[in-house]
Amino acid sequence: MTNDTTMTTATSAVPTAEPLTLPCGVTVKNRFYKSAMNEALAGRDCAPTEAHVRLYRAWARGGAGVLVTGNVMVDHTQLGEPGNVAVEDERDLVMLRRWAAAGTENGTHCWMQINHPGRQSPVTINPHPLAPSAGKIDGEYGHFFAEPTELTRNQIRDIIRRFANTARIAQKAGFTGVEIHAAHGYLINQFLSPLDNHRTDEYGGSLANRARFLFDVFDAVREAVGPQFPIAVKLNSSDVPIAVKVNERNDAPGGFSEEESIWVMKQLEARGVDLIDISGGTYAKPVIQTNGGAVEDRRRGVYFTDFARRVKGELSVPVTLTGGFRNAADMNRALSEGITQMIGIARPLALVPDLPNCIIRDGWQGSVDLPRVTTGIKPLDKAFGGILVISWFELQMHRIARGHRPNPHIGGMRALLFAIKQHGPAALAPRRRKGRQ
Ligand SMILES: Cc1cc2nc3c(=O)[nH]c(=O)nc-3n(C[C@H](O)[C@H](O)[C@H](O)COP(=O)(O)O)c2cc1C
Repeated sequence: MTNDTTMTTATSAVPTAEPLTLPCGVTVKNRFYKSAMNEALAGRDCAPTEAHVRLYRAWARGGAGVLVTGNVMVDHTQLGEPGNVAVEDERDLVMLRRWAAAGTENGTHCWMQINHPGRQSPVTINPHPLAPSAGKIDGEYGHFFAEPTELTRNQIRDIIRRFANTARIAQKAGFTGVEIHAAHGYLINQFLSPLDNHRTDEYGGSLANRARFLFDVFDAVREAVGPQFPIAVKLNSSDVPIAVKVNERNDAPGGFSEEESIWVMKQLEARGVDLIDISGGTYAKPVIQTNGGAVEDRRRGVYFTDFARRVKGELSVPVTLTGGFRNAADMNRALSEGITQMIGIARPLALVPDLPNCIIRDGWQGSVDLPRVTTGIKPLDKAFGGILVISWFELQMHRIARGHRPNPHIGGMRALLFAIKQHGPAALAPRRRKGRQ
């Protein structure tokens, strides 16, 4: 945190302090939406641990209205990254209950993010990935991912059932909502994107067909959890390469476009979604792996604001904009302008877990400066850039889970060694395709 704090009195006029009622009737206490970050805290059994409990207790006490968990996989054999939790039956119900109880302390909502990686599952942890269509991932990281098998209709039906079952177990365990991960190049995003989906059956081709998998998943989850349980969907604004000017319109040729994304959002609204979490990140330029730290943050500002402005007139369902929020002024502006109804924040909460309290209660007006993570060795930074950044933030989450304060001065080399110690050499495989967030 920077030291330029100006203390102001927190009042109910603070836009971030306003409660929000969702379409399902549930009210969340304020506008802070802790976005999903894979905690990398599960062992080989993919079960949640006491460390999850302690981490989420710290965040719940930190004052956010909603905490979204890191992505929880619907299948133990199909993980997106080492250290993922997977929930496909009730074997871990006791620990899930403890996790949910900690995350819902202090009147906080704790929602489980549910995901399937599709082909974006590193070969070091999954030699047999599944995807809408066969075809190896190209580009410089291609060799980290095995060639996936095209899903059969039965396998598609099985995965839809798995999403619903994981949501049902989350609800039974005491999580107070779920977020379906349809962004960042994972399975649902692969179905949506014509760059990944070459199917010729009812799940491929037209937009309605490409979106069918998401809608089937959504409907199955809604049926499993009932009408009064919040369901959010995290969706990419498009297959847009995150260009130098992140908010410029720049659809990837032949990819999932902004128009298509808005159409999907409208359909989700009609189906009863409670919140759309707008995100992005594609092959060409990743959102969080560029590692520019605070300098880059200041240049870019809040991500996807232009897209959120386009969405504003089109939807009545609440939106949360995620990425780039570092100070109260930007948050208040985005809320007052009406381009978002919640403030999605990920990395700053790994450094300042009580940021919502600092802003709402203490009136903190400073800015969370993310450091530029480096090993000090250029070729290493270049080779492991994305993993370096993600491991660094995972290390901070592990510190919080062990009862320590986050330490912004930790170097990149320590983060890399930490990742290898936690997960073995698999830690060094890219967690997401280059260009996907
Ligand atoms: C360590 C780490 C893990 C992440 N894991 C997930 C995840 O499991 N699911 C997800 O939707 N996004 C994930 N993200 C992306 C964040 O939710 C968020 O979209 C991104 O960091 C931009 O927001 P920020 O600028 O506030 O950090 C992760 C980000 C980081 C740094």
